[in-house]
Amino acid sequence: MISAPLVNSEAPVAVIGGGIMGRGIAASLALAGHAVTIAETDPTTAAGLAERVAGALRADEGLDPEDVDAALSRISVVSMLEDAVACAALCIEAAPEQLSIKSDIWSRMGASAPQDSILATNTSALDVDALAALVPSPDRVLGTHWFNPAHVIPCVELVRGEHTSQDVIDETTRILVRAGKQPVVVRNSPGFVANRIQFALVREALLCLEEGLASAEDIDRIVSSSFGVRLAVLGPLANADLGGLDTYRWILEFLTSTLGDRFAVPGLLAERVDAGQLGTKSGVGISSYPDDAADRLARYRDETLRRVIAAVKERSSRG
Ligand SMILES: NC(=O)c1ccc[n+]([C@@H]2O[C@H](COP(=O)([O-])OP(=O)(O)OC[C@H]3O[C@@H](n4cnc5c(N)ncnc54)[C@H](O)[C@@H]3O)[C@@H](O)[C@H]2O)c1
Repeated sequence: MISAPLVNSEAPVAVIGGGIMGRGIAASLALAGHAVTIAETDPTTAAGLAERVAGALRADEGLDPEDVDAALSRISVVSMLEDAVACAALCIEAAPEQLSIKSDIWSRMGASAPQDSILATNTSALDVDALAALVPSPDRVLGTHWFNPAHVIPCVELVRGEHTSQDVIDETTRILVRAGKQPVVVRNSPGFVANRIQFALVREALLCLEEGLASAEDIDRIVSSSFGVRLAVLGPLANADLGGLDTYRWILEFLTSTLGDRFAVPGLLAERVDAGQLGTKSGVGISSYPDDAADRLARYRDETLRRVIAAVKERSSRG
């Protein structure tokens, strides 16, 4: 078992793959002070990388232009991953979501990166342990699942594999928090948490389109101006508590009887409703709401929703 190195804010980082995700990850970590080397095999993508990262950071009105220039000066691009990982304290693989490509990269990364470097994959859904098995010391391996656009979205899922050491989780958490991110630790499981939920939604949206229920534009408008904006304020479980778990159960029962078993009522929901735990209206649901906690939660939701909706309206009126 290795003990994770202390990765200070200037420690070198390697990002493997300079595509949609790799360049946002590189930008975030360079802004936090790290020297970042991106390994990118496609010559056209590699040639345009510096300009794309610069464009994304310069468009952020909240960033000091001097900080942006300093961050950009810390980013370099190479074609061979061995050159990127040789001195890296943290290596993040952001290569295409195909196990064959990632396996090759992980075997090479395991052979070339320093033995005590932290090795992370940005996979959206694949098994982190399968990649960890390809390198010496799998206790230094974890998933860091960033979200697109990586330089903007706060959450990073930290995927704990079977062998991932607590030191590695703690050190990666520190690095990400320093970079302004909000890491959340999850267990290694297909799609982790975010993509289990996100892809259930995308799948249903595609089925609604396929079945001709509404146009693509209208489906997107319905989601982003209804429960989508609410999800920016509170997650699906808190929303269910505010909506009433008994109502959610009746809706799911009807959808199961009409659309099939993919809407089957989860055992946890049935148990809560059977026990009279209906959400904020009964004081207990998925969570507990002592005293005036339910009222405070609803007030927080309403006030924050109004602000988010106003910000979206203001921005979209500018075109
Ligand atoms: N796109 C998203 O919204 C998103 C969100 C979260 C996570 N992810 C995950 O991030 C990873 C990367 O996705 P992406 O959307 O950035 O893909 P992408 O296709 O935009 O970028 C991948 C890059 O890796 C490069 N590459 C391929 N083999 C390489 C090698 N051996 N060495 C160096 N570079 C190599 C490719 O040329 C390409 O530029 C995937 O695992 C994906 O599932 C994607």
